[in-house]
Amino acid sequence: MKKVRLDKFLADAGFGTRKEVKKLIKQKRVKINGSVINNPSHHLNPEEDSVSVDDAPVEYKKHHYFMFNKPSGYITATQDKEMPTVMEFFQHLPFYHKLFPVGRLDIDTEGLLIITDDGQLAHRIAHPKWEIEKEYYAVVRGDVSHLDRDRLSTEGVKLKDYQTKPFRIDIKSTSPEKSEILITVTEGKYHIVKRIMEELGHPVLYLKRLRIGSLSLDDSLSEGQFRELSEEELKELKKSVNL
Ligand code: URA
Repeated sequence: MKKVRLDKFLADAGFGTRKEVKKLIKQKRVKINGSVINNPSHHLNPEEDSVSVDDAPVEYKKHHYFMFNKPSGYITATQDKEMPTVMEFFQHLPFYHKLFPVGRLDIDTEGLLIITDDGQLAHRIAHPKWEIEKEYYAVVRGDVSHLDRDRLSTEGVKLKDYQTKPFRIDIKSTSPEKSEILITVTEGKYHIVKRIMEELGHPVLYLKRLRIGSLSLDDSLSEGQFRELSEEELKELKKSVNL
């Protein structure tokens, strides 16, 4: 594996900005293989050398993976001239500039978004070949009980310019004014859920993503909060796209 500078290694591991980790190093709080190293540009091999800060071992992470509960009002992009982006919530992280969102949620859609710096995983999750399920909670206009849900789950629906893949609708509640549903699609086309429900005569009033494949949004994350994926969550997600 390629050698990396000690200050970069510590910044990537979450110990602060380059400036902050340089201070740590100068304070002689950092050891490599048991010896204090006070030179921030010292190079080390993350796979062979063991690094500690205040005698606690530092785990090297090649990539970072977060589950984020996206609030409404933020664009899913790394930058935008006019609107705030989801990346604003990650700005304080030292490796922030490497992170990006996987796939896309509309500005008014809430819920589960994966933020990472692992291009390969991101590419696979978004790729239609793997048919990763995405489950949404939606509030839609009108009573959906009349829909032929069996047919939709085998044939999909014909939009103006596109035949969708099959998708599943589970009904949580209905009234003449609105229904609450869970809708599970296996494609990531632009506005897919809104276009499907519009076509079926039940426009979306509220949309929140709850699940991507094996990964479910953690209930304890309030809007705008994120946390790292657990090892188990990451393993399952990778498995589903053959990684
Ligand atoms: N489908 C939509 O219409 N919007 C989203 O944000 C996600 C899926």
